[in-house]
Amino acid sequence: MRYKILELLKSTHDFVSGEDIGERFNVSRAAVWKNIARLKEEGYNIESVSNRGYRFLNDNDILNKFEIGIENCVYFDETDSTNDQAKRIAAEGCDDKLLVTCGKQLHGKGRLGRTWYDKGENACMSFVFKPDIPPFEAPKLTLVAGLAIADALHSYTGLKLGIKWPNDITAGGKKICGILTEMSAEIDKINYVVVGIGVNVNCTDFDGELKEKATSLALCLGHKSKRSEVIRICADYMFKYYDKFCKYGFAAFTEEYNRKCINVGKAVKAIYKSCDRTGIAKGVNDDGALIIQDGDGKLFKVTSGEVSLRLENNNYA
Ligand code: BTN
Repeated sequence: MRYKILELLKSTHDFVSGEDIGERFNVSRAAVWKNIARLKEEGYNIESVSNRGYRFLNDNDILNKFEIGIENCVYFDETDSTNDQAKRIAAEGCDDKLLVTCGKQLHGKGRLGRTWYDKGENACMSFVFKPDIPPFEAPKLTLVAGLAIADALHSYTGLKLGIKWPNDITAGGKKICGILTEMSAEIDKINYVVVGIGVNVNCTDFDGELKEKATSLALCLGHKSKRSEVIRICADYMFKYYDKFCKYGFAAFTEEYNRKCINVGKAVKAIYKSCDRTGIAKGVNDDGALIIQDGDGKLFKVTSGEVSLRLENNNYA
């Protein structure tokens, strides 16, 4: 009920009397007052003036399920890691295409066992997918996610963004978004894939070596963004691109991925467990593997998860 009242107040930008609200939703004025009090407690800035009623002023960048506006969404004010939450929810059983997100992530996980820091300023999202593909094809989904988020953030901000293969999103050569994909599978069947996305939205100070390597929407744009809007647009693109991937496979994204991939044409070093190989990145193929040409002109391909990739002669990208 309270979000219906909120919607009404947001749509008018003017005072609406308690009586009118009550009549509209068939509740007493006391009930209206209670709901408004609850909204104020949640942080909404609503003016109450006797004999005039209630007026919506602003939402103080509140993050909750209502503001995000995605139907298939589980929201936590605080959680350990949205990836871990998503895995717990998926293990209990949930539908394909679920968004799990939070206001503040306390123990965010990065790739390769790293920590992903957030002080409640950024967008932390995990998507549960149940694609009907063999487990070895799951890394393609990570690439699709990278493209979806790059396109979502571009459409929201107008910023020119790149993808560092397999799936870091960069702005001006610095990382603005990281992706951590986890999977539960049998030998030939995926139970679920959790694609975790961390977008640096409003943080402006990075510690230590991250200062040189990381950036945020706020640093690029010079102003803060509404996290609820960032999350909503990212989820819209993710679900849209996932549907396209399920229908047509990764081949439908190869060209666009290569256009955005900042590694293409650059010297890279593929770091395997036991050796390194360098060469020029030629682009990804329809399987999402990166093709690299070594000094002898020989082509070799690397799949994500198998190697970590460095851009040679470049701090980071
Ligand atoms: C990376 O190392 O670049 C990947 C970072 C992924 C961070 C996101 S934030 C939301 C989701 N939950 C996590 O614990 N990690 C991912």
